[in-house]
Amino acid sequence: MKLTVPQLQAATSPLVMVTAYDYPGALHAQNAGVDLILVGDSLGNVVLGYDSTAPVTLSDVIHHGRAARRGAPDTFLIVDMPFGTYHTGVTDAMRAAVQIIQQTGADAVKMEGSSPEVLQATATLTRNGVPVMAHVGLLPQTATAQGGMKVQGQGVEGAKQVLESALNVQGAGAFATVLEVIPARLARVITERLHIPTIGIGAGPYCKGQVLVTHDLLGVYEGEAKKIAKRYAEIGALSTQAIRNYAAEVRGGQFPAKENSFVIKDEVLDKLY
Ligand code: KIV
Repeated sequence: MKLTVPQLQAATSPLVMVTAYDYPGALHAQNAGVDLILVGDSLGNVVLGYDSTAPVTLSDVIHHGRAARRGAPDTFLIVDMPFGTYHTGVTDAMRAAVQIIQQTGADAVKMEGSSPEVLQATATLTRNGVPVMAHVGLLPQTATAQGGMKVQGQGVEGAKQVLESALNVQGAGAFATVLEVIPARLARVITERLHIPTIGIGAGPYCKGQVLVTHDLLGVYEGEAKKIAKRYAEIGALSTQAIRNYAAEVRGGQFPAKENSFVIKDEVLDKLY
């Protein structure tokens, strides 16, 4: 059953969130019983083949959000607001959020950062009935400005900044916040100081919930696993091997076999000659 915002905020057990970008991914996540599904703009990296999330557009997230919603009609669904759709004023942010909510059926949107523009957009959307999940710590959409995809908040100033960001997004009305790639004990302090749930990725075990990019947990891409993720399967290797087996059987004449083929009566065939 789909949780509501107050139920998510009152949950006593850890919240489980994964990303999904299409019908089967969302269906599997819902069948696995996760609490929240995120149509993340990590879509750019793991599905569309970009090397960052910055090129992902509003129509990309709407297209994929609609498919994910069809796969998971009964799970709380959040869609990422793409880079550039909420930085140019509250009217633009509200318009983009309304398009996402109306066209995908999402329950909430997510925005990265805590700049004055993002805080204003968070406050406006929340006031007008659009639940906002915030995202502080490492911000992939603007990671270049943060010195690359690296741990945030390890020094005194950095740690204070991440804490302040988290307090500010809560103050602006966010119903929960992602904490990405920050030290575990900083995440603990933030989780203790906030009354909204924290959802960690690379932020240690003390958050209220955890999120992983599904392609990381499934091992869709071979090679070394990321430090922030754990692989629960080797889907990439399995897929490649399955396609290799199919190719070998086509080339060797084993596929299609009799059981994969349809029959026609002799008398029908005879009429063709
Ligand atoms: O885009 C995404 O997948 C995310 C998660 C990593 C939280 O923002």
